[in-house]
Amino acid sequence: MNEAPCPHRLSAESLSAGPTTRRIGRRIVVLPEVDSTNAYALTRLAEPGDRPDGACIFAEYQTAGRGRLGRRWQTPRGAGLILTALLIERSDATSISRWMMASALAVAEAVGAATDVEPTIRWPNDLYVRDRKLGGILIESRPWPAGRAVAIGIGVNCYQQPGHFPPELRDRATSLDIESSAAVDRTRVARAVLERLDHYLADRNEPSDAVLARRWGEHSADLGARAVLTEKGHTYRGRILDVHPISGLLLALDTGARRCFDPSTTART
Ligand code: BTN
Repeated sequence: MNEAPCPHRLSAESLSAGPTTRRIGRRIVVLPEVDSTNAYALTRLAEPGDRPDGACIFAEYQTAGRGRLGRRWQTPRGAGLILTALLIERSDATSISRWMMASALAVAEAVGAATDVEPTIRWPNDLYVRDRKLGGILIESRPWPAGRAVAIGIGVNCYQQPGHFPPELRDRATSLDIESSAAVDRTRVARAVLERLDHYLADRNEPSDAVLARRWGEHSADLGARAVLTEKGHTYRGRILDVHPISGLLLALDTGARRCFDPSTTART
C-alpha cells in the first residue's frame, strides 16, 4: 500500500492536553508501530498494577491490524486514526451491543465536532460518508479477575487519497481528507474521540439505554432501512425496526417474523 502524507504526528502530550476525561485516556501510549493496538491492549497494557482501565493506545502503523469477522485492517503509516481504549468491566456489566453503539456514536460525534464531515453509522460498527466507508470498530475481550478486559478498537481513515486504498476498495472507501473542505487535524479528531468515548463509556448508566438508542438513531440511516444479515451460516432479509443497547438489532423479516441479532455474531452485506 502506498504511503500517505502525515501532516500531524500524534503524541501522548498533545493527546492528554485540554479538557480532562473521567475514565478514557487516563493513561495514553503512542507507538510508532505495533502488530495490532487491540492485541497490544489485551496483552501488554492489561497487566495487573498497570492502571489498565481507561488506558488508550494509539499507533501510527499496524503490521497486523484486525477488522471484524477475521478481516484485515490496513492503513498506510501515519494516515489513519488507529486506537484502542481498554475497559476493565465486571462480568455482569454492559452488553456488546451497548459498547458497540456507544463507541460508534462517540466516533461519529467526534468526527462531526472536529471536522466538517458528518459520518453516518451503519450497524453494527461502520462509519460511512455517502456510500463509502470512513472507519470501523472492532471490540474484543478476554477474561479478567471477576470480569473482562474489553478492547474497543477504532480505525478512522484520515489522510488517504483514493490511490492509497487497494483497488478492490477504491470505490467503497473514503477518508476525512477526501471528504473535508478544510485541512484535517488528526490530533484534534483524536482528542474529540477520547472526550466522546468518555462521555458514553465512563458510566454504565449514563446516558440511559433509551437516550443512547435515540442519539444513535439520529446519526444512522438504518432505522426503517432494508438489511441483509448473516448469522451462523443463515441469511436473513428484512427491514430494521430497532437497534437497542441490550437486545441488539430487531429485524422485521420478509417472512413476517421478527428476529433480534447480536452484533458480535452477525455479518451484514
Ligand atoms: C472493521 O470495520 O472491520 C473494524 C476495523 C477496526 C480497526 C481498528 S484499528 C485499531 C484497532 N486495532 C486493530 O487491530 N483493529 C482495530
